[in-house]
Parts: sequence; C-alpha cells; structure tokens
Amino acid sequence: MRLGRYLAHAGVASRRAAEEIVRAGRVTVDGESVRDPARDVDERHAVAVDGRPLAGAEPRVVIALHKPTGVVSTARDTHGRPTVVELVGSALQAPEAGRERATSGRLRVYPVGRLDVDTSGLILLTNDGELANALLHPSRGVPRTYVARVGGGPVHQAAVQALRSGVRLDDGPTAPARVRRLGPGRLELTVHEGRKRQVRRMCEAVGHPVLALSRTRFGPLSLGGLRAGESRVLSVAEVERLRRLGP
Ligand code: URA
Repeated sequence: MRLGRYLAHAGVASRRAAEEIVRAGRVTVDGESVRDPARDVDERHAVAVDGRPLAGAEPRVVIALHKPTGVVSTARDTHGRPTVVELVGSALQAPEAGRERATSGRLRVYPVGRLDVDTSGLILLTNDGELANALLHPSRGVPRTYVARVGGGPVHQAAVQALRSGVRLDDGPTAPARVRRLGPGRLELTVHEGRKRQVRRMCEAVGHPVLALSRTRFGPLSLGGLRAGESRVLSVAEVERLRRLGP
C-alpha cells in the first residue's frame, strides 16, 4: 500500500495531510527517512512518525544466530547460497515468537551488518531498522570480538602491539583494538569498527593471514551455547541492553 494511504488508514491524518507529513521528512520506514508518499509499505515495515512507531505496527524482534561458514549475510543471494535469513526461519517459529507470528504472519528480519561468507559466529537479525542503524553507526563504536586462527608462524609481541595501536589499511588506519594471544597461531581481537574484511586485512597487514575467523561477541552479547546454525530470540532485557549501548 502507498505510504500516504497507509498512514491515513492508521489514523495519522487525512490522506492528503498524511502525504504532506511524508514530504516534510517526518516519516521513517525501517529506520530510514522516506519523503515519497508513494513508497510501498505493509504491516511488516516499521513505520514511525516523528520518531514514534505507529500503533499496531509489527512487534519488534532481535535474533542471535551462530552463522556457519558458507552462509551469506544478506537477505537473498544471487548465487543461490544459503542466507542467514533462511537460517533463522526456525527461530521465528519458536514459542517466544509465536505471538508475533499469530498477529502479523511471518516476520521479515534483516542482518545487522555483515560477516564474510567464510567467517562464522555471532550475527544479529532484526526487523527493527532503527535499532540496527544505531548499532552499526560508527559513533557508537559497538565492540565486536573475533577469534582468528592465523598463519605466518608464531605471532610476536611486535605484531600484537601493532594490531593494538592501529595498522595502516588502504582505507585508512584502524582504531586501537584489544588483542591477546590465545595460543600459537590464535588471536582474540576486539575492534570498534565494522569495516569490510577488517580483521582479515589487519592480520594480513602484520604478516599473519587469517586461516579461520569467528565472531564470539557483539556488544554485550556472546555466542554462549549456540552451535553453528542455531539461533534464538533475544529477551526483552537483552534488547534493552542493546538499545542502551551508547557512544
Ligand atoms: N572482519 C573480517 O575480516 N571479516 C568479517 O567477517 C568480520 C570482520
């Protein structure tokens, strides 16, 4: 349905007034400002006026998934590879999500950021566009922790120190990171940025190409007992903790 009409149906204003509200930039769809009243929306979109979600909008859900390698972090893949969205289908049918399904049919969730296809580990999916944007915004600097198995021989203190203070990449130097050696050829790195293939490029830059990479934490959340391919719906308290993550 057109956004203007959708707002009018929700009782926000008359059709014409609702279209003006959209043109004035007061409306977001999945967290993104939309000024086109003809934008196609339905009840699965998170529509807000002046930052206030429309009553009756789809309930918000956040899912933690242990992404296996070989799975892409997009909603759809042109090469037919399995996607994180397909994997969490079962979490959306879990008892905790039953209420949501009953009221609005299948929830449409999107990954919060990306993990490379060859990276495993913790990734969040949500239908809350505003929360997703906030978590990914560079100003928040949400910490992400990775465990990397690296080649290139023993990792010396100089390499660890270089990773900690920041290495020069082709898109600029990296911010300070927390780094510790977990064993021969195994590093734990906590970074506050989400640049493309960042951890792989950082390790490569200090002479230790990554052989395997897994994300173990995202902000306050850890993989916990989730096994590869498993997912769970976050509790209200966990989602609140995500919302409160500040810059
Ligand atoms: N850094 C990487 O290099 N790859 C990922 O998937 C995530 C962080």
